[in-house]
Formats: sequence, C-alpha cells, structure tokens
Amino acid sequence: MKLGVLFPDAPEPLAGIDLTGLSADSRQITPGMAFVALSGTVLDGKTFIAAAFAAGAIAVIGEGDRPQDLPETVAYLGVGNIRLALAKAAARAAPASPKHIVAVTGTSGKSSVAEFTRQIFAACGHDAASLGTLGVIRAGHSSYGTLTTPDPVSLHRSLDALAHDGVTHLAMEASSHGLDQYRLDGVTLAAGAFTNLGHDHLDYHHDSEQYFLAKLRLFTEVLPEGADAVVHTGSAYSARVIDAARQQGLKVTTVGGPADDLALHSRAIVGFEQVLSVSWRGQDYTVRLPLAGAFQADNALVAAGLALVSGDEPDRVMAALPHLSGVSGRLERVASPPGSLIVIDYAHKPDGLKAVLETLRPACTGRLICLFGCGGDRDRSKRPEMGGIASRLADLVIVTDDNPRSEDPAAIRAAILAAAPKALEIADRQRAIDHAVGLLQAGDVLVVAGKGHETGQIVGAQVRPFSDHEAVAGAVARLRLEGRS
Ligand SMILES: Nc1ncnc2c1ncn2[C@@H]1O[C@H](COP(=O)(O)OP(=O)(O)O)[C@@H](O)[C@H]1O
Ligand SMILES: [Mg+2]
Repeated sequence: MKLGVLFPDAPEPLAGIDLTGLSADSRQITPGMAFVALSGTVLDGKTFIAAAFAAGAIAVIGEGDRPQDLPETVAYLGVGNIRLALAKAAARAAPASPKHIVAVTGTSGKSSVAEFTRQIFAACGHDAASLGTLGVIRAGHSSYGTLTTPDPVSLHRSLDALAHDGVTHLAMEASSHGLDQYRLDGVTLAAGAFTNLGHDHLDYHHDSEQYFLAKLRLFTEVLPEGADAVVHTGSAYSARVIDAARQQGLKVTTVGGPADDLALHSRAIVGFEQVLSVSWRGQDYTVRLPLAGAFQADNALVAAGLALVSGDEPDRVMAALPHLSGVSGRLERVASPPGSLIVIDYAHKPDGLKAVLETLRPACTGRLICLFGCGGDRDRSKRPEMGGIASRLADLVIVTDDNPRSEDPAAIRAAILAAAPKALEIADRQRAIDHAVGLLQAGDVLVVAGKGHETGQIVGAQVRPFSDHEAVAGAVARLRLEGRS
C-alpha cells in the first residue's frame, strides 16, 4: 500500500512510496515497512531507528522535523501528532472492523462492563466479542493480550480479524493510558460509557484532573458527533462527563440513579445474589442478578445501557441480566471449606479494595479476612491507603507479596503495614493463602485480592507462574487431605 494512503498529508514523492506495512516496534519491522518513531514516556522511538533500518524499514514517520543524524538516503515524513497519525494510519492499513463498536472508560469496571455488554449483545442474537485486559473474548474462543488498550497496529489487526470472522458487535475497554496515547482514535465508535472515577494511575498522570481529562477524551474527541454516551451518575465527575458529552453533540443516556434514563429504584441482597428494580422509558423491570455487590449492579446497568442505546430490544436486554457471568477474578466465588466463602478479586486499588470488603461484609456471619499486597513500581501512595482500608473494614488482615517488580518486596509490605499495624505479614503468597485458608471456620469470608485472573507473579524482571485460583485450590485440597475440612 502507498504511504500516501496511510498518511494522506504526505507530500510527493513520499506519498508514492510502496509499503508492506507499518509498526512502531522496531522488532516487528520486516523489509519494506515504515517505522513509526514514537516519542515514548520511557524510551524515545528515535533511538530505535537504526534497528528498524537494519531490519529493512524503508521510511520513518516521526514527530516534527527530520532528525539531524538520519542518513540522507532515508525517507522521512514529519507529522504534528505522531500517536494520532499512527492510530489513523493503523485503521487505514487494516480497514475492516465490526460494524458496531462501543467503548467503556472509568477507573474501575471497564473489563466487567465490556464483558457484560458482550454477553448481552450475544443474548440479543449478535455475533459479539469483547476486547480488553482479558484479551479478546468471543463465545468459544479466547486469546490473551497484555495491554488494556493495545497499540493501534495490533488493535486494528484484531478488529480486522474479528470482522472477517463475522463479529458484528464489539465492546472494548478504553484505558486512560490508551485514550491519552491516542490508541483508539482510528476506531469508529457508536457509543461510549463512563463508569466512575477514583484514585488510580496517579504515577502516570500527574494528578486526578489530568487523569480525568484523559478519560474525558473518549467523549470530547474520540466519539463522533451524534454517537451515544452512557454515563453512570454515581461519581463526583459524572456531571462533568455529561456536560462535555452534550457539548460535543453526543446523545447522553444516564444510568444508575432513581431519576436516570435507565433508573435503579432499589436493590435487595439475596445471599451472594441481588434483585434490582429498574425502569427504562416508562417500563418497570424486576431483574435478578447472579452477582454480589452494588458495583456489579452498576456495571450490569451500564452494560444494559450500552445495549439499549445500540437498539437492542429492552425485553431481551433485561432478560439477559439474570444470566450474566462475572469476569474471572472479579469477586469470583471459588471452592472453600464447608460453611465458609472464598472470593478471588482483582482489586488492587484503594477504591476497589474498599468496594470488595463492603460488598462481602453482608455475606459474612463470622470473620472477614482480607489477604493482599501491593505491586512494585506503581503508585506508592496507595500502599498505606490500602493498609488503612483493610484494617478498618476487615476483621483480620494478611499482608503478602503482589508483583514486587524491581522493588524490595519487604519495603512494599512495610509501607502497607505502617497503616495496618495489627496485620499478619507472610511474604510468600502461597504460604499466606495456605495460612488464611487454614483459619477459615463456618461463617468466615476470605477475600484474596489483587491478582484476579493473573497467572504470573512479577519478581524483578522475571514472571514466575502463579495463580490465586490454583493457590487457593491447592490450599483447600491440602486441608481436606489433612482431614481438617
Ligand atoms: N463500578 C465499580 N465501582 C467500584 N469498584 C468497581 C466497579 N467495578 C469493578 N470494581 C472493582 O474493580 C475491580 C476490577 O474490575 P474490572 O471490571 O476488571 O475493572 P477495570 O477493567 O476497570 O480494571 C473489581 O474486582 C472490583 O473490585
Ligand atoms: Mg480492565
């Protein structure tokens, strides 16, 4: 394909160069490709130009003027916003995509809403998929990716492949990093949703205002005029999202409050499940949701809102809710010793941990036991904050290792323990889980928080195989062997 097709502003003779593809990763360059030199936050793409050329790149796209050290024989196109240009070019290079795509942003609930929306779309008869932290999910298929919002070239390759496989409806996660880095700007979206905003990723975004503005980009810049915006009204930022969306000419549908378009009137907890009384356009519905937690009701309603604005039949949308299954590792109930309850949850942020503990308290007649740690090389301020939340809301806290990455795990634990002085410290995560499971008596609830669906523990630069699911199953099996349960 011609360079001028991917980058329509390219002048001749650059526009006439024949390309075999493009990539922003010098390791993925093969002969005839264009190398897109992103100025990353950590590594400057321009330092990889030499590697890209060694691998056969025939042109470089960069931001601004031609780098002075670039050999004269190398074709160079300078653009104003390299990430935006890459997103648009990636879309032109792999033009097919599911015809109806919706995206969800917010601090928490993105994976759950994307997955619930996929399940509702499927129940309404569409060939549907979801894309996010858990990879691409489609009934009967699943593949795992690593980033919540993949780089534009891989994203558009996935969209193209899904379209060719017959997928018409896609629900995707839009992370604040992904939005900030223009990864979604080449995707044509029909609707966007906002779940909530809390303390998260403050190490990457300078403050919550900037973090909020990154999420707001979905509504102010990515969604085309006339598209739908589904906004949960439970967050302090919801009103600003609604205003921004209206100003942008989006059709706003509010969700979650008693006076909202998709209204929630009451919620009754029935064991681990709940019954919702909701209304939509003058019609009342009583819906059983097979999931615990007010936040799962919020997520399910945001997903229902996305399906409703997509034109799906309200009766079919509501009928899909009692069959929703949660995302792996999101308040997921797993096998436990008799009479007790063990829940695996991905909560690795203060808000998430608080929501999980508050959700599980009513399901608990004995002790609420909270086992968690904090990741290394991530926002440090959340460590004492999470220690405080756990000691306040749980009866027993066990502090263990999460993904220490390049940090000293003992120092991470110490930062948590400073705010949780009564907590038990057990560094090794398997041993901590064994100990916690061994403590369980009838009526107790154990929440193993922080890793959810993950299957590895990152220590230094190494990823060791580790799964909370397997660790808990092993601990429960050993107890049974010892005849203690
Ligand atoms: N609507 C919500 N409000 C508050 N906390 C939530 C909400 N949805 C999910 N959570 C918490 O965040 C965790 C991650 O949920 P997930 O759906 O994977 O969100 P994300 O993809 O945005 O990280 C859950 O396990 C739960 O603890
Ligand atoms: Mg996610």
